[in-house]
Amino acid sequence: MTQHVFPIPSALAATAHVDRQTYQDLYQRSLDDPDGFWREQAQILDWVKPFTSVKNTRYSPDAVTIEWFADGTLNASFNCLDRHAQGRGNEAAILWEGDTPGDTRKVTWNDLRQQVIRLANALKKLGVRKGDFVSIYLPVVPEAIAAMLACARIGAVHSVVFSGFSADALAGRIEDCRSRVLITADEGLRAGKHVPLKKNVDAALENLPFVEHVLVVRRTGRDVPMRAGRDRWYDEALAEVPDECAPVAVGAEDPLFVLYTSGSTGKPKGMLHTTGGYLVHAAASFRAMFDYRPGDIHFCTADVGWVTAHTYLIYGPLANGATIVLFEGVPTWPDSSRWWQIVETYKVNIFYTAPTAIRSLMRDGEGPVRQHDLSSLRVLGSVGEPINPEAWLWYHEVVGGGRCPIVDTYWQTETGAVLLCPLPGATNLKPGSATKPFFGVRPALLGSDGTLVEGEGAGNLCFADSWPGQARTILGDRERFLNTYFSTFPGYYFTGDGARRDADGDYWITGRLDDVINVSGHRLGTVEVESALASHPSVAEAAVVGMPHEIKGQGIFAFVTLKEGIAENDDLRRDLIQVVRTRIGPIATPDRIEWAPQLPKNRSGKILRRILTRIAAGDYENHGDTSTVADPAVVAEIVRRVQESTNSSAL
Ligand code: WTA
Repeated sequence: MTQHVFPIPSALAATAHVDRQTYQDLYQRSLDDPDGFWREQAQILDWVKPFTSVKNTRYSPDAVTIEWFADGTLNASFNCLDRHAQGRGNEAAILWEGDTPGDTRKVTWNDLRQQVIRLANALKKLGVRKGDFVSIYLPVVPEAIAAMLACARIGAVHSVVFSGFSADALAGRIEDCRSRVLITADEGLRAGKHVPLKKNVDAALENLPFVEHVLVVRRTGRDVPMRAGRDRWYDEALAEVPDECAPVAVGAEDPLFVLYTSGSTGKPKGMLHTTGGYLVHAAASFRAMFDYRPGDIHFCTADVGWVTAHTYLIYGPLANGATIVLFEGVPTWPDSSRWWQIVETYKVNIFYTAPTAIRSLMRDGEGPVRQHDLSSLRVLGSVGEPINPEAWLWYHEVVGGGRCPIVDTYWQTETGAVLLCPLPGATNLKPGSATKPFFGVRPALLGSDGTLVEGEGAGNLCFADSWPGQARTILGDRERFLNTYFSTFPGYYFTGDGARRDADGDYWITGRLDDVINVSGHRLGTVEVESALASHPSVAEAAVVGMPHEIKGQGIFAFVTLKEGIAENDDLRRDLIQVVRTRIGPIATPDRIEWAPQLPKNRSGKILRRILTRIAAGDYENHGDTSTVADPAVVAEIVRRVQESTNSSAL
């Protein structure tokens, strides 16, 4: 296969923070002397009490220790606000673009700092103390960022829940961290449609009496019921508190936030991130991987509910004093030139998005991009799923005009910040490859038997040793944390992804190896969708697998067995889709539901998803090793039905 290689643009090679030689030297140093290397990197932050110890980490099956900068103290909101407000207070921190074209707000460093201070005081008044959890269920509005930083200011721990999640999903995430305070909005706006956030909150809180206070941001201004004694308008609560609130110095290992992500059981995992290591990794990697320059305008399209936004829309950029574009809407509304219009309006220099969006915009051709002057762009980024070379080339040519490097950044909610990525001035690019390890990161490919793959080859993607941004635990479930990440390959952190290393030492992610699928860059546990389906009274059992999907990367394919005597029909299909949307949210909507009289199982009753995955991919013959299937006729019947419905929908 001929391999496109895009060499480093010469202008960048000469001016970037990190050039090829610097990368090689610094990477080596980061492995040889991690303490020295990270001590230097940590100077990107202001510390209240400087740390003396840097790295204290150990992976062994019975004892996993992850501590960075442990005796230092700092405050994240001070690092992301106060030190930039001094001197640049009237400059923009946030350039907000609402869902409706023309609905914009410029939030200066002073404005944001004032809002954070008042909200911090309002939270204190509601009884929030250091170490308490606060849930945030907000659209992409400046208040969401203020809410996160206000928690950080007083040492509270935020838990942002994606506002596209349903009431049930929100309830589960509130229950898990037992937050007594929730910050939400009357409604959200998405592609012109109103999203009933407060209504979802009311439903979510029905059985959660421990939630004492709800602050409600007026986003659309529509009338929503307010429960006396519990609900308050955000603006009113902020108006009545003092406008001074000193940032609280917290320990580097004190928690900054929890963020839920899907795993291979039905229950989402609350990944707990701490303050010092996370912020050092976020800030240093933001600067290096986007080759950030003071004055740059940074536009990351992620929703505040995902880790991408935590690290590379909010904490990383703001710690560097970057001005960010915050966009509430979707790229295709009112039409598919929306992002490019924003890039032109704000003269965006750094643009970071997910491959699924690029694929969907590609369908509309070059026209919507070409209408806009994108000459301000300097660096492009990709995250969340493997980017197919075709989308990479389009992004590079059409959006980047052939001049902007694309940094394909591989990382996870668990890793906090990037682990594999090119650096614009240091790395040759290959479409589809996340290329090289970030500083201090030691990738390893392991065979299923645990043998280390050397040189060119493929295997389970693991990391030997820790890095500062790493999640410290799963909230309330240390055992699951150890089991999921550290027990499969003792001595390593296991990502759950497969990867290949080529002859140049570049890494290519091949996708998840566990029961997690990646739909439009969003992680979903197949078991979560299965339990939602199984909660319907007509369903006996369901098995969910990922299937190739042109735009989403992976789509959701559900095989459903109905209870005795229930008729298979399209109304029921629609009901099942509704159940999933209610239980989880629209992102989990199955793309295809097939009725299966029985599911393929092994002799001990375990569903053989491997076989279903092949069938879902349209591979009707080659099911791999089927010797474990208890009843081969079950597979044959499913294949017959899937083939039949594929043929009839193709007509
Ligand atoms: C996938 C998002 C290929 C991977 C930051 C990982 C990627 C999961 C890439 C984490 C990439 C993320 N190339 N695959 N550049 N980035 N992934 O927790 O499967 O939402 O395990 O974090 O997304 O998703 P999460």
